[in-house]
Amino acid sequence: MQSSAASEREFQLSDGEFGELRRLVREHTGIALAESKRELVYSRLVRRLRRLSLRTFAEYLELLASGEAAELEQFTNAITTNLTSFFREGHHFEFLADTVLPALEKRNAATRRIRIWSAGCSTGEEPYSIAIALQESMARFRGWDIRILATDLDSQVVAHAQAGDYKAERFEKMADARCERWFENTRAAVRTASPALKSLITFRQLNLMHQWPFKGPFDAIFCRNVVIYFDKDTQRVLFERMAQLQRADDLLFIGHSESLFKVCDRYQLIGKTIYRKVL
Ligand SMILES: C[S@@+](CC[C@H](N)C(=O)[O-])C[C@H]1O[C@@H](n2cnc3c(N)ncnc32)[C@H](O)[C@@H]1O
Repeated sequence: MQSSAASEREFQLSDGEFGELRRLVREHTGIALAESKRELVYSRLVRRLRRLSLRTFAEYLELLASGEAAELEQFTNAITTNLTSFFREGHHFEFLADTVLPALEKRNAATRRIRIWSAGCSTGEEPYSIAIALQESMARFRGWDIRILATDLDSQVVAHAQAGDYKAERFEKMADARCERWFENTRAAVRTASPALKSLITFRQLNLMHQWPFKGPFDAIFCRNVVIYFDKDTQRVLFERMAQLQRADDLLFIGHSESLFKVCDRYQLIGKTIYRKVL
């Protein structure tokens, strides 16, 4: 039975329509939406219905079923949750700077090459934090070939990340000196990632559920706060594919509420949500 709030709504979302939307989200993103996410789905998609001047969710589902690629992209962009921040889960970046980079200086001395993947990079704060850690260690790596690949399913957040523009409040938890060194004050209350940071990063739109147009190997993969939205079987497939792009001792960083326990045995836990490839 629908509540009075639901019946006064601008649009009705029936059980069947919600079920079909969940199925499509799962099919196109890997995201397994719980029954409890009905309000979230409604509020994210209602904007699309208004924008397209549609009258019902049934019409919207018809549009998606017609295979309209542009709308499928808008649909997945609307559903993804893009919460992120600079130096989120700060211990990962301390470990990167204090332990991983000194170790890579020795291990990769012959190739003088470092490859890091930020998988599910959202608006770019994660790859820029990695780039800052690298630039601040650059004295070790003069003349090295260093690249960060930063990918996300959501085309809008990738465009934002690529532009590298951030409102001043995004830097509240970053030391002023760091912010001033790595972000230029391009206009009122906006700072832009410096060319030194941007030069290290390649941004690409990529659905982790699809084929990956690269072979690795990656010295480190950051896949943080992404798989939390996937079911365990999808996580198993994903981490197995990531393991195939890494050599022994390469590293995997995952989100604070995520774990590889009973999901993937190709990595060994070596720190808080930090894994080393073993098999
Ligand atoms: C909560 S954000 C995490 C951002 C960053 N890694 C962090 O920890 O701060 C999750 C990101 O995963 C992306 N994502 C969700 N499903 C995806 C998929 N199938 N392929 C690629 N990215 C996906 C979302 O678009 C979103 O930007």
